[in-house]
This record gives sequence, C-alpha cells and structure tokens, in this order.
Amino acid sequence: MHLFDYSRETVSLDGEWQAIPDQYRVFEDHPIGDSLALPNAPAGDRLDFDVDDGYSIRVPSNWGEELPEFRHYEGWMWHTRRFSWSADGDDGRSFLAFGAVNYEATVWLNGELLGSHEGGYTPFAFEVTDALEAGDNVLVVRANNERREDGVPDTQTDWFNFGGVFRSVELVPVPETFVRNYRAETTLSDGQVGVAVTAWIDGPDDESTVSVRLPELDREAELSADGDGRYSAELSLDADAVTLWSPADPRLYDIELECGGDTIEDRVGFREVRVRDGDVLLNGDPVWLRGVSLHEESAGSGRALRAADVDERFQWLGELGCNFARLAHYPHSREMTRRADEEGILLWEEVPAYWDVDFGDDDVRELYHRQLRELIQRDWNRPSVALWSVANETDHDDETRNRVLSETVEFVRDLDDSRLVTAACFAEETDDGIEIRDPLADSLDVIGINEYYGWYHGDADDMRAFQDDPDGTPVVVSETGGGAKWGNHGPADERWTEEFQAAIYRDQTDAIDGNEQIAGMTPWILFDFRSPSRQNPHQRGYNRKGLLDQHGRKKQAFSVLREFYRDSTE
Ligand code: GCU
Repeated sequence: MHLFDYSRETVSLDGEWQAIPDQYRVFEDHPIGDSLALPNAPAGDRLDFDVDDGYSIRVPSNWGEELPEFRHYEGWMWHTRRFSWSADGDDGRSFLAFGAVNYEATVWLNGELLGSHEGGYTPFAFEVTDALEAGDNVLVVRANNERREDGVPDTQTDWFNFGGVFRSVELVPVPETFVRNYRAETTLSDGQVGVAVTAWIDGPDDESTVSVRLPELDREAELSADGDGRYSAELSLDADAVTLWSPADPRLYDIELECGGDTIEDRVGFREVRVRDGDVLLNGDPVWLRGVSLHEESAGSGRALRAADVDERFQWLGELGCNFARLAHYPHSREMTRRADEEGILLWEEVPAYWDVDFGDDDVRELYHRQLRELIQRDWNRPSVALWSVANETDHDDETRNRVLSETVEFVRDLDDSRLVTAACFAEETDDGIEIRDPLADSLDVIGINEYYGWYHGDADDMRAFQDDPDGTPVVVSETGGGAKWGNHGPADERWTEEFQAAIYRDQTDAIDGNEQIAGMTPWILFDFRSPSRQNPHQRGYNRKGLLDQHGRKKQAFSVLREFYRDSTE
C-alpha cells in the first residue's frame, strides 16, 4: 500500500549527493574485498572506488543533465548521501520514501540492504526504523537505467532514457500505528454527494478509533474496522452544501484522517466521471475534452521538473484553453497532478505499457500491474485524474496482448471503479471508412486512438471518414499532429515547416469537429522532446511534433489549436 506522506513532517534528503558511474559493474563485486559499494568496506580496498568521493550531483536530478559527460550513459550509477539523524526518543517508526528512480533502484542504509524497486516513474518506500542510527548515517542508492527486453517499457521507446533519482527522497517519521493511506470516492445521486472513505492503518492493533473530518463542511465520522488494517465509512452530503469539482470551478476541500493521535491531511475534490452513449460526463453533464499530450521533460533538467517548469506547463495549458491533458507515457510527478486539481485540468494518466512490452511474460505482467497499482494508490484521491490508460499502441493482432489487457482493465477497475479506463489504440482503414477494430475496445469506457493522417499517411482531413456512432463508446483522439522545426518557414506543403504543421492541425480539427463519437483530443504534443530515434537535420535527437519547441517557443500550430478550442467553447 502506498505510503501517503504529503502532509507529514518529513526530513528531506534532497540536495548534494555523490555519484559514481559503474559501467562494468565492478564496484559491488570488486575482487579486492566484497561489496566495496558499502561504507563498511575496508578503507584499504577503496583503491579505485569510494562511495564518498564521487561526482557532486544534485538530487533530484537526471545524471545526464547534471554531468554532461554522462549524457548518454546507460548503466549503474551509485548515489551516496550522508546525513545525521537523532531519534527523538519516541517509539515511532521511520520510512525512507522515493518519488521515483529511473529505472531500477537498489538501496542500502548504513550497509544494510533495504531492497530494490523496478519501474522508473512510481513512488516506493522502505521501513528504516531499525536501520537508522543516531548520529551519522550513509545512504547508498544504485540506480540502473539500462533498458531491458523484459522491462515496462522494454528497450524501444520514442523518448530519451533519462536515468537517475529524479524525484524527491525523504525520511518519513510516523507513530508506531499510523494512517498509511486513504481513499475518498465520490458518487452523486438524488441530491446527495456520497463520499466513501477508506483508511489503511499500519501498526499493531490497538483500540484507537479511526475518524475522518471535513472541517469546511462541518462533518466527521468514525470509520469501522473491516479487518486487515482497513477501515471505512460512508458519508452522505447534501448536494446544496457542496461545490462539485470541475474545470470551471476546481473547488477543493480539506480532509483529515485521524487514528490514535496520528493525523494526515489532504485536499480533495468531489466530482463524478461517467460515460453515457458517446459522451463523457462530468457530474452528469457532457464534457468535450480539450486536451494536449505532454511528456515530463524540461530542457536542462530532464524529468526532474522544477516548480517553475510546472508553472510554465499549466500556463501553456491555460493559453490553449485546455480542460484536459494526457500525461504521457508514464506517471508524472505528484506536483503535476496536484496542480491539475487546483487549475481544473482533467487528466489521462498511464504507465509505460508501450509498443512491444512482453505481456506474455509472467514477471513482466506482475511488474506492469505493480506499476499501475503504485500509480493508482498515489493518485486515486486526485479529482483531476479522470482516466487510467492501460497501454499505448500495442499489437491488437496478438491474442496474448488482447487477453492480458482486457484482464488488466478489470485489475484497474478492482483498484478504482470511480474513474474511466482507456487505452491508446490504432484505427483501421476499411471499405466503410476508418474504424476501430481493436478487440480491447469492447472492454474500455473510452477508446483512445493514435492517428497521424496528414503526417505518416494519408491527408489530415481523412478523419472525416472516421466512424461516428453517437451512441457508441466515446473516443478520444489520443495522438495526432506532425513535426515542424521552430522558425522553419515555407509553403504549407513543405514538410517540417511551421506552416505544414499548422495546416495539419487546421484540417484535423475541422475533420474531428463534426464527429459526435469523438469526445475529445490530446494532440501530440505540447512541446518538442528528446528522442534518440529522431535524427534528421530538423530533429537532431528531438521529436519535433511539439506546439512549442523545447525552449518554450510557440509554433504557428499553437494558435490553430487555441482558436479551435476557443471556438468550441462558444
Ligand atoms: C506514437 C507514440 C509516441 C510517439 C509518436 C510519434 O504514436 O505513441 O510516443 O512519440 O507516435 O510518432 O511522434
């Protein structure tokens, strides 16, 4: 179960660390003595490697952005942080929490192996109550970003493989028995706002009561024990007393969960997302999802976004007139989802089940589902998150993929049945036009389609032939667009010019506008991003389908999409 630490008093371990590359993996199994990576190795053995005298590096960071000589390095990178700790005498417990490490982390504290975590974009934590020492402590993290055939994602992606401890690292002190996580799920009916509250209590059973408070609504309730540390309660609020969350009015409320003196606090929004016929409904009303896709990347800091980067992204979303965004192709930082709560931007979130992931391998499937569980248990209280996506552009002719993904839809619904489940699929050109023939579509609440008419094939207005069943499953155009180099101008029929890209957006939005089954779009992509497989002279290591370039400079297509969204709200 995810360790909720957002409102807790934590000790940040962000700041200056030491980093040592270990491309030949000699550091741990050095022939002179064993485990030289650990601080208790005999000093004399530290002839060539010493955890304490690596390159100075900031955490959170991607090492290729901190150490340019390692820009393309893929392998083991040993990170070390020394810190002092003073137990304040109580019988509390402590956890070491990581926002994310790409791709795999193995962690030692004071020479004790705490464990490993695979998956480059989800949070994880280890209990360190017994490993912490009063006074000096040394934390060693071996980050490994090597791509792997049995990974999620596997070795082939259209994005740069930034390695590193790229989200925050914190020590989380908690009481012996504490509220580990909670869930607040909204349902609307007959003038009532139902809030199902669940809390997971970690610690020895005791007689503490578990309660929930909504101070602004002057409501509180005691949760009843369901067993295995799980407690729950149902609150019913008068709809007149509650402002439902929406992009137009992203109203958030304080919530407090308390158990035996331990309290966690959060900000939640009450809203309901459903589908009916070809519509996506927010609080019972159809909403057209005016979105855009984006990677988590900022020039000079890789995926370790700074506060100013988050501000800038939401400024662009606001300028475009978006009420929706696709956080592609992996879980983004919790700062992004919490900011979306405040700004009123609905979100599509996903794990990197991308292209040729080996769904037939049991270990891959377990890793895939664990990443989904880690994402959902982190963000299941975020009103902005409306859709969980289970895959991107995977092979619908592969029976194993079809079986595993339809099972995964149920796995996601078992974790969270209050949000919509989707996937980014392909459409087919048939004698009857452009249709969705992916068997997975039958399992989805919303079908995403990635289509590049006007760029990779056909003409941008071919989308006029796309299926249109107003009573069918709602469709989101989860990718469309084309490339342009910022500042490259020429006739609209000249590829890689801003004019060519703008013409694609004009024709695509005209074609999509009249389709009643299409309930939204997240064109690819908000800004140019690094990709090793994009190397022509216009690209030189960047995918240039952005509406802005990597420096935040707008291309003409930005205005085309902004006008389309502005017209669609009038
Ligand atoms: C694919 C894929 C993206 C990729 C894009 C492109 O649809 O989902 O990750 O960047 O196409 O070709 O630019």
